[in-house]
This record gives sequence, C-alpha cells and structure tokens, in this order.
Amino acid sequence: MKPSKINGVFQKGNKLFTINPPNCKNIKVYGEALRTFKGMQYRSWNPYRSKLASALTKKDISLPFESSTSVLYLGAASGTTVSHLSDICSEGYIYAVEPSPVVAKTLLKLVKQRNNIIPIIEDANHPDRYTHMVSEVDFIYQDISQRNQAEIFAKNSKLFLKENSEGVIMVKARSIDVAMKPSNAFLMVENQLKEEGMHINELIELSPFEKDHAAIFISSNK
Ligand SMILES: C[S@@+](CC[C@H](N)C(=O)[O-])C[C@H]1O[C@@H](n2cnc3c(N)ncnc32)[C@H](O)[C@@H]1O
Repeated sequence: MKPSKINGVFQKGNKLFTINPPNCKNIKVYGEALRTFKGMQYRSWNPYRSKLASALTKKDISLPFESSTSVLYLGAASGTTVSHLSDICSEGYIYAVEPSPVVAKTLLKLVKQRNNIIPIIEDANHPDRYTHMVSEVDFIYQDISQRNQAEIFAKNSKLFLKENSEGVIMVKARSIDVAMKPSNAFLMVENQLKEEGMHINELIELSPFEKDHAAIFISSNK
C-alpha cells in the first residue's frame, strides 16, 4: 500500500483505497473489500461504482484534498462516493445534497456512523434553499444527470465555492443530448463552464468503467 498523489488516497497495484475511520472498523458501505496494512484498515475504492475512482484509475492526477477539506457534493445518491470523500476529508465536512428521500435512505444510515457528512434532502437547482446549512467549501463535486448540469454547477459555485478553488462535474453524454456524439456533448459542457468563468483543468473520459461519461475538473476564479 503506498500513498498516491492525492492526500488520503492510497494505491496497491492499479487499485485505489481510502482509510476506514477507526469507529467504522469492519463496516463496508457498498460491499467493498477491506484490507489491513500496518494496523490501518483500508477500503477498496471501486472504479465501476464511483466515477471519481474511475477518473483517478484512468489518470494519475492530483487534487487539492487535505484532511480538513470541505466538499459540497451534489447528487449524493446512497453515498458510495460520499463515503470515500468522508474517509479522505476526515476533519472537514461533506455536505451531501440529494433530492430523493428514497435514494438517500442508505446515505442517512451512513451519517449515523460518520459525523463529517451533512445530508441535505434538496434539489441542487435551488441552492438558496440550503444556504443556511452550508458554509463556503474548498471543493464542489457534482454527479447529476441533468441537461442543465453546467448551470447547476455554476449556481452552487457562485454561492459556496471559496475563491481559487476546484471542483469536478461528472457528465453523462446522453443526458445532454441523446443524439449528440459524446465528445461533442463534453465539449458543450466545457464551453458552458468556461462561459461561467471557470477554468478547465482536465477532462477524463471514464470508459471502460462508465460508458459515454467524462469527469471535467475545473478551477474557479471568483
Ligand atoms: C448517478 S447518481 C449519483 C451517484 C453518486 N454520485 C455516487 O457516486 O455515489 C445521480 C444522483 O443525482 C440525483 N439528482 C438528480 N437531480 C438532482 C438535482 N436536481 N439535485 C440534486 N441531486 C439530483 C439523483 O437523485 C441521483 O441520486
């Protein structure tokens, strides 16, 4: 097990891991493998289940994560990726926004084990509804399959992202336009983000883990 370029993320061969917090020892979130090494328990981070793991498996990039980093996570679903960010940002907060109470059931169970996840059952189109629950964050993670995803990302960044900070938006080409070539759909989202004043750091296509998806990493200069 060796550290990767990203604080809190570890590698063994081509597999990624994060550290399971001591109070969650032997607890799996989504059936992932657990490995103990030098007294620490590590959770395998499955690139077929988490788009951030897909991107990091495909390309060895660095991200500005520290243990104190706070993340606004839009489209939290049941908390698969949220749980790994909770491991990485163990002293920060993960504000996890998910509009569906049914989907969020497992997320709400996770919150009982991990006190750095703040669940917000809301629609990310309306960030004004959760301004009272979220403070400024160091990173925004968005995984919402909506046609107006660049607009949602921009709205939330303007309200919550600290100056000169970073984020990632996971894009599903078909949710932009079923008839469009995926590379054109990604370009369209890139251009929309640029129009919103964001700088594109990297675009990583996620196949074979997620077909016709890309992770677009940005930095903002508010
Ligand atoms: C692909 S899933 C996210 C998977 C999750 N990011 C993970 O890796 O564990 C997309 C989620 O976005 C949520 N979603 C859709 N529209 C949304 C909106 N307007 N605001 C917030 N979340 C939304 C859906 O309910 C769904 O749970």
